[in-house]
Amino acid sequence: MSILRCPVCQEELNKTNKSYRCKKNHTFDMGKQGYVNLHMSNEKKSKNPGDDREMIVSRKNFLEKGYYKKISETLNEIIKKEIGDKSGINILDIGCGEGYYTNLLRDNLNDKNIDSHIIGIDISKDGIIHAARTYKEIEWVVASGSNLPIANESLDYVICMFSYIDPIEYKRVLKKGGKLITVSTGEYHLVEIKEVVYDKLKMDYYRPTQDILDGYNYKGLVNVRYKVDLEGGKDIKNLFDMTPYRWKSPKDGVERLLRLSQLKITVDVNIDIFEKN
Ligand SMILES: C[S@@+](CC[C@H](N)C(=O)[O-])C[C@H]1O[C@@H](n2cnc3c(N)ncnc32)[C@H](O)[C@@H]1O
Repeated sequence: MSILRCPVCQEELNKTNKSYRCKKNHTFDMGKQGYVNLHMSNEKKSKNPGDDREMIVSRKNFLEKGYYKKISETLNEIIKKEIGDKSGINILDIGCGEGYYTNLLRDNLNDKNIDSHIIGIDISKDGIIHAARTYKEIEWVVASGSNLPIANESLDYVICMFSYIDPIEYKRVLKKGGKLITVSTGEYHLVEIKEVVYDKLKMDYYRPTQDILDGYNYKGLVNVRYKVDLEGGKDIKNLFDMTPYRWKSPKDGVERLLRLSQLKITVDVNIDIFEKN
């Protein structure tokens, strides 16, 4: 039984060869890379919502260098421990981008013979195209996190890494007792970039715990913090281009940063776990 739902009529959506179809015959053909676009044009607030191609490529090039691998390793350990000896686990990675973390999670669960079905959803078509082109064993879907084409109470885990959080919609698709795991940047994350780019250091950061209250029990926080040396100017640029600083930094500060050929950065992220009650 498929847990995907038709974005037109909400009936079950089943995969047949290279398309997805519901019993009312609404049909969605797969893109040649192996993904399905279930984001209806009347739902879109812009022509190409989500991260653009340049951000996606920068993120892909940066992540593939392994600088953030510890984040993935910690998250995967948490999930593996949570799953224990259960099988038939449904997992959604919402805002999965180009699928780096989604794929490492899948590899990890496979290595441990954990029977799971993983769906990666992003509102960025470029992100999903890159993910589907690279990682073939995951179900990749273009859709919005605030209107998921997923059945009620069908998921064991929703993972939301550095992305848009819609706690009400995620609650709808989680089973009772299912977990929402958010990964967000901590106070010291990339502080060295801020020091170079801004004249005055701003230490603001977001805690999802302030918004995810209703309908969830908070289960706790795992902080991942370490320092790592970036290997060269290209990696510094890729990192900068994949962050929101790209949109809101002073020109002279950006120039200062992009002149550097090495930089030690602090990685500081918070993994928060919420259980649907
Ligand atoms: C900072 S990136 C993180 C990507 C990936 N999770 C990672 O950590 O590498 C945020 C992602 O969320 C996606 N996104 C933003 N708003 C979204 C929404 N409303 N629904 C689904 N995805 C969204 C963006 O397109 C982008 O790929």
